[in-house]
Amino acid sequence: MAAVAPSSPQPVQPAPPGPPLWLLAELTYQCPLHCVFCYNPTDYTRYQRELTTREWIDVLTQARALGAAQLGFSGGEPLLRDDLEELVAEAHRLGYYTNLLTSGIGLTEQRARALKDAGLDHVQLSFQDSTRELNDFLSHTRTFELKQRAAALIKAHDWPMVMNCVLHKHNLPHVDKIIEMALALGAEYLELANTQYYGWALQNRAQLLPTRAELEAAEAVVQRYREQIGQRCRLLYVVPDYFEDRPKACMNGWGKVFLSIAPDGTAMPCHNAGELPGLQLPNVREQPLASIWRDSQAFNAFRGYGWMKEPCSSCDEKEKDFGGCRCQAYLLAGDARAADPVCAKSPQHEQVLRIVRQGQSAPPAAPQPLVFRSNPPVRRPR
Ligand code: FES
Repeated sequence: MAAVAPSSPQPVQPAPPGPPLWLLAELTYQCPLHCVFCYNPTDYTRYQRELTTREWIDVLTQARALGAAQLGFSGGEPLLRDDLEELVAEAHRLGYYTNLLTSGIGLTEQRARALKDAGLDHVQLSFQDSTRELNDFLSHTRTFELKQRAAALIKAHDWPMVMNCVLHKHNLPHVDKIIEMALALGAEYLELANTQYYGWALQNRAQLLPTRAELEAAEAVVQRYREQIGQRCRLLYVVPDYFEDRPKACMNGWGKVFLSIAPDGTAMPCHNAGELPGLQLPNVREQPLASIWRDSQAFNAFRGYGWMKEPCSSCDEKEKDFGGCRCQAYLLAGDARAADPVCAKSPQHEQVLRIVRQGQSAPPAAPQPLVFRSNPPVRRPR
């Protein structure tokens, strides 16, 4: 019997994708705030030509037909779109569970009532800190009282209230006061997510990165409150990736469940994907969403496991973390196909450890000034 030659490994085709369950509609990158940790792309002027109301409704309809179930209206500040109520009403009619991610600026009694009538299910309100001074400094606006008013409106209209406060070196020592504020405002859920370093936050990393001791002290406070308050307000505490030794399953895996649409209709498997080189990002103005989701180069670039290099390709944890975050791999290792350097198995992990070590030392006598996000002019055809 003739010997059978060992077959050469066949490229692994990713399985056909399931539905994009989670749709993020970034309605505008305009924002009244100038937060130093904003995750929006720093070059967002290139997404300037915003989709019209009709175009957004078409996107929502197509995504729902593909199986999208949860819809986040985000930005920038989505309340800056005066068609938000119309979009929420249409989303509600289509059967989405809708979530508004807002700074609260622009939420008046009249708009809150209209959004409630339109069927909005859920609101997530962001604060920068529990003190007016730091809240207003970090956002470069006088908005602390406005946010308190927005919180009262959310409660008055009977939405479940989720508060969000992005943590970093400047507000970590206030975590107890931030929790107290959330309790006083009647939040049912408080997300205390430490800054991750993309976009504007990456530019300000040297000023925002906490020490390990600061993170651990804040986590101990959160744990103490969890024991005291039980289910009254659920506290979520997320540490910066840089302090982990295994990466997060970013986006639950590229092109698996998450679909983000930028203000100009650019479709992205991750809201930072515009920063990755070599991706041909499709646009809903030019291509049906079904073919974007299933067939486009950008959505297939990191689907499945065939794109992986070592150490990810032979790692027994790859089905859990999908190699981590592609954007972080590019930003830290210069290669979007590399293992996320946060992972202790990555050859570039030392770089992350070095950044963390630098953050432990005393700040320089003349620290770099913080860079506040700016706002570009916008073109909004109707
Ligand atoms: Fe883009 Fe993680 S932020 S893949």
